[in-house]
Amino acid sequence: MKKTAQAPANIAFIKYWGLKNNELRIPTNGSISMNLSGLLTTVTVEIDDALSKDDILINGKADTDRSERVRKHLDLIRNKVGLKTKARVATHNNFPMATGLASSASAFSALTFAAVSAYETSLSEREISILARQGSGSSCRSIPSGFVEWIGGDSSESSYAQSIFPPDFWDIVDIVAVVSTDEKKVSSTQGHLCVLTSPFFSARLSHIDVKLKSVKDALGKRDFDRFGSLIEQEALELQAIGMTSKPPILYMSPETIEVLQFVQKLRENGLPLYFTLDAGPNVHIFVEAKNKEKVLKELQRISSIKELISNVPAAGAKIVERHLF
Ligand code: DP6
Repeated sequence: MKKTAQAPANIAFIKYWGLKNNELRIPTNGSISMNLSGLLTTVTVEIDDALSKDDILINGKADTDRSERVRKHLDLIRNKVGLKTKARVATHNNFPMATGLASSASAFSALTFAAVSAYETSLSEREISILARQGSGSSCRSIPSGFVEWIGGDSSESSYAQSIFPPDFWDIVDIVAVVSTDEKKVSSTQGHLCVLTSPFFSARLSHIDVKLKSVKDALGKRDFDRFGSLIEQEALELQAIGMTSKPPILYMSPETIEVLQFVQKLRENGLPLYFTLDAGPNVHIFVEAKNKEKVLKELQRISSIKELISNVPAAGAKIVERHLF
């Protein structure tokens, strides 16, 4: 059986940053995100009795160091569905990998969705998100649609993502200002292991539940200014924890700071827009749809921005007809 799935990357408003259980990827806290319409990964999985080993092609390349992580994930899925047959896998991103644009989220959610379907097993959305989570934590949030909450939980079965609002709930746009397409030096996986070395991590945990509640509330009320200031605080808190970890992790570049300050300046001049950041130098800028063109025009003036990618809230992982091979 051959199946192809497509899944979006997602951007977290409240971040997954730190783990309670590294092996099962149970996070220290819950998180909230939005699926991104313009950052997509497509994965084709074909089950084939003739294979003695999984055959994996990632964005056209065989046997990269990422192949092992994919094999391990296929083993987990096979274990869940009770089958042993190996698979042929190809993946394709429509954006650069490992630059903090969350390629592991879209990749592992599409992989999980395609593999579950190729092994002809029917699992619930929650079960698929639990499987995806174990491949890459943030990928569990790309399985459900629109605005999504990952319930942190304290066991594998209680750590899953669910939709809190559908894609058409709110007309907001995430403009990604790409300032670098280089591979990041410190992966998120490594970052999660360092958080406990920051003296600020315990302070984060002491107010994280209030933050989660406030963001959900601002989203529910479509209160753009409150939502925006909450996501900026959260983005900077994640950077502060990285910078004070041992060894320190500095994800921002001079170009990142230039964009952040530009956003602040435009806001002072009366344009409502807010930023968030992930574990990388690129900046996500949130605007209400009615202001998108105006903001794009302003951002085009910054020469250090290599590309602007506009995203609206998107559906989660889905099966598509067009195979990659
Ligand atoms: C900063 O999901 O990439 O983007 O579970 O090791 O694959 P692994 O980590 P990953 O971490 C994402 C971290 C983040 C914040 C977020 O998306 O919530």
